[in-house]
Amino acid sequence: MITGKYPALRLRRNRKNSWSRKLIQENTLSSNDFILPIFLIDGSNKKESITSMPDVYRYTINRLAQIVDKAIDNGLPMVALFPKTRNSLKNEIGSESLNENNLVCKAIVEIKKRYKNQIGIMCDVALDPYTSHGHDGLIKSNQIINDETIKVLINQSLLQAEMGCDVLAPSDMMDGRVGEIRKALDQVGYQNIQILSYAAKYASSFYGPFRDAVGSKGSLKGDKKTYQMDFRNTDEALREVALDVKEGADMVMVKPGMPYLDIIKSIKEKFKIPVFAYQVSGEYSLISHAIKKKLINEDAIYESLVAFKRAGANAIVSYYADRINKIIK
Ligand code: PBG
Repeated sequence: MITGKYPALRLRRNRKNSWSRKLIQENTLSSNDFILPIFLIDGSNKKESITSMPDVYRYTINRLAQIVDKAIDNGLPMVALFPKTRNSLKNEIGSESLNENNLVCKAIVEIKKRYKNQIGIMCDVALDPYTSHGHDGLIKSNQIINDETIKVLINQSLLQAEMGCDVLAPSDMMDGRVGEIRKALDQVGYQNIQILSYAAKYASSFYGPFRDAVGSKGSLKGDKKTYQMDFRNTDEALREVALDVKEGADMVMVKPGMPYLDIIKSIKEKFKIPVFAYQVSGEYSLISHAIKKKLINEDAIYESLVAFKRAGANAIVSYYADRINKIIK
């Protein structure tokens, strides 16, 4: 209940001094709240900049330590791996996703070898980095075919689990995939592999720079509206979450982040489960470019990240995660 009345009550009293403002703070951030996405490329000794994402790079496997060391120094609990697959390895059915020597698999092995369990590894389960058409699933007569796609996603999940991935993150939005992946994992003894489902993933314009980063931008034919959600909808997001939780999701993701704070809040209130927010590439690039152009100052980054905590997110996937301690200070 909100009570009190001016002049007996003056909310500015508590705000007067910095020490007092600290005491009444409701939300704070720590490095424990962050997951760092890492982009991978093949080749050797390369750290390649991404035009649309200032200060974000693609790393070859032998340069990975540079960024993972930074993640560990910052105290981050987890990294998320995303490959930029060479075009010559892409095809209609995304078969490179099942190659145990693909970039993601090599990176998992490398990180686990070097860092053991010092840091968690999360991997997307979806075909878009591997398909020539840039879609997350298989296509037949111009349709993304659900159940056939799930069969491939199961194999991708099992492979990534076998390599040492800790958290599988289906980001494909096929119906029923969480349950099928959980079942397949359990059958072969991977009961302890976690599933972070991108349960509420919207068909969004904010993914643009990411598609540039993983090289699927030019190739994407059409849009993803038959599987990703309509940004006009809330109830549908709650139904997606309800299904994924029943199917065995340990945590759920809302994506994009900042335009969907209301969705984070509703999910948290209704389901009482771990909810993660993805501050996606478009959000990152907007903020970063605006700072570079001096339209806003650097403090906007911290403000944008606290917003997720205020909405109820447990953790945040952000391209700022490698600099988080500086940002928090
Ligand atoms: C692929 C995937 C996407 C992102 C993460 N996984 C793009 C898409 O669905 O087209 C976007 C992340 C970002 O924009 O930062 N399934």
